Amino acid sequence: MIKIIGLSKSFIGNTLEKNVLKDVNLNIDSGKITGIIGPSGVGKSTILNIISGLSKPSSGEVIVNEIDIVQLDKQSLRRFQKDIGVVFQDYNLLSNLSVFKNVSLPLKLKGLNKEQIIKETNRVLEYVNLLDESSSYPSQLSGGMRQRVAISRAIIHQPKLLLLDEITSSLDQETSKVIIDLLKRINKELNITILIVSHDLSTIKKLCDTVYVLDEGMIKDRLELNLFDDNLPFDYKRELGIAS
Ligand SMILES: Nc1ncnc2c1ncn2[C@@H]1O[C@H](COP(=O)(O)OP(=O)(O)O)[C@@H](O)[C@H]1O
Ligand SMILES: [Mg+2]
Repeated sequence: MIKIIGLSKSFIGNTLEKNVLKDVNLNIDSGKITGIIGPSGVGKSTILNIISGLSKPSSGEVIVNEIDIVQLDKQSLRRFQKDIGVVFQDYNLLSNLSVFKNVSLPLKLKGLNKEQIIKETNRVLEYVNLLDESSSYPSQLSGGMRQRVAISRAIIHQPKLLLLDEITSSLDQETSKVIIDLLKRINKELNITILIVSHDLSTIKKLCDTVYVLDEGMIKDRLELNLFDDNLPFDYKRELGIAS
């Protein structure tokens, strides 16, 4: 679905240039759940920002359907972004809007009429089991519920690709499991390809079909995971201290 080739990204500081991504190569397969794992600060969110078109790489290609989206003009990029849903690390929910209004926002921006908005929003809220919280505000919800609101908002326009940034990092194990199960359903039932970046091994192990290990600006390893196998091949470099 997406082929990332020779991706690099540098940030220019006051005096120093920081080469965060040096040469990242990876594939995101259609219909699968792909993960990128690596220590904090290694450039995982930077990769997501580039794929979602929020940030331009210093060099390299992001090929989608044989088109390099890095080269797209604003209008074409916007068209591509319609097929993407993103959930950021910190939910990004609007605190002054109800759950219903948060989730329906993309449809409102798209110009759907009231009837359609109500129908689609209720459909998604039911799917994530949040219909009862429609009129609640984010501050009244648990972390897991907030995360489900953020996921709902990201899938309401039926994207082909869902990008997730550290989405279970601040959740306890039980809540993480609910989110992981939901994401597996979204992947299988709604046929949405998923890319998740995280430093949380336990989530990645339970969720992903393929995992790339990012360290020192490069992909250091690629693992195919068998979801039915508990003895997975990674203590991954001692829980991501990496090196060695
Ligand atoms: N806009 C920016 N300007 C300067 N430095 C940045 C910017 N965004 C990220 N960085 C730096 O790039 C590195 C990787 O950041 P990030 O992609 O957020 O890592 P991760 O998500 O793996 O924790 C960090 O050192 C961070 O400080
Ligand atoms: Mg990050």
